[in-house]
Amino acid sequence: MRATFLITTLLVGKVTFGQPATRPKALVYRGPAACDGCPEAVAALLKSSPSNFDVKFAGPQEEVDITATSLGGVQLYAQPGGGDLDPAWVGTKKYKNILRDFVARGGRYAGFCLGAFLAGSGPGFELLPLGSDTDEEITQPKAQVTNDSDTVIQVDWHFQTGSRKGHRQNGRWLYFQDGAVMKLARNTSAIVLGTYSSNGDVAASITPLGKGWVGLVGPHPEADESWCKSCLAPLSVHPEIQEYFFTF
Ligand SMILES: *[C@@H]1O[C@H](CO)[C@@H](O)[C@H](O)[C@H]1NC(C)=O
Ligand SMILES: *[C@@H]1O[C@H](CO)[C@@H](O)[C@H](O)[C@H]1NC(C)=O
Repeated sequence: MRATFLITTLLVGKVTFGQPATRPKALVYRGPAACDGCPEAVAALLKSSPSNFDVKFAGPQEEVDITATSLGGVQLYAQPGGGDLDPAWVGTKKYKNILRDFVARGGRYAGFCLGAFLAGSGPGFELLPLGSDTDEEITQPKAQVTNDSDTVIQVDWHFQTGSRKGHRQNGRWLYFQDGAVMKLARNTSAIVLGTYSSNGDVAASITPLGKGWVGLVGPHPEADESWCKSCLAPLSVHPEIQEYFFTF
C-alpha cells in the first residue's frame, strides 16, 4: 500500500491564487507509516499546484508532531502512501481524534493509498460517513489487478472543477500497489472523482465530515515513471487531479 498521491486537491475554496501572503498551508505526515519518498512526492504535488501550498512535514520524528497546535492555521493535512495498514495504524492511532476534530472544524484530509485506507475504520481514523469504508481493490469482483505487486491500473477520471469540468477521461494509467477502493454508502453526498475502469469501483472520492472534506485516492496520481520501471504502461504525474479539490 504505497499510497501516495492525491491531494492537492482538497484545498479549499476561498483561497486567492497567486498571492504569496495567502498561500494555503498543508501539513504532510512523514514518518514510519509512510514509504520512502512518498511524503516528498505528495509535498511536490501540493507545492506545484495552482494553490502553491506552503508545505511542512510533521510526524513522530519531525520537529513537530501532528497535534491540534501544529494543525492550527493549516488548511490541508495529507497522509501519504506507506506500508501495511496494521503496523501503520499502531503508529498513527494517536492522531485519530486530532484529525477527526481538524476535519470536523473545516479542515481537509487528503489520503493517498495507505492514507485512504487509514481514513476508513478497519482500523483507521473513521473519517468516512456512516456506512462507508475503504477496502482493497485487488479483492473486489472484476478487479483489473488481483495481487499486490507494483503495477499500474486504469482509472476513469471525472473532472469536477477547473477547466475540464464535466469532462471524463477513461482508461488513464496510474501507479498502483494494493490500493484502496472507497465503498460509499448510497445515502452519502460523496463526489466521485475517479472509478476503476475495469469494474466501476470508486478509486477517488471526496466526502464531507462536519465542516470539512475528506479526499481519498487509491492509486497514486503523484507517481512518475521512477516509481515503476518495469510497468508496461507509461507513468506520469497527473497534476490536473489537483483541480478536483480546489473548489471544496
Ligand atoms: C446511511 O446509511 C448507513 C447504513 O448504510 C447508516 O448507518 C447511516 O445512519 C445512514 N446515514 C444517514 C444520514 O441516513
Ligand atoms: C501479479 O499478477 C500479474 C498479472 O496480473 C502477474 O503478471 C504477476 O506475475 C503477478 N505477481 C505475483 C507476485 O504473483
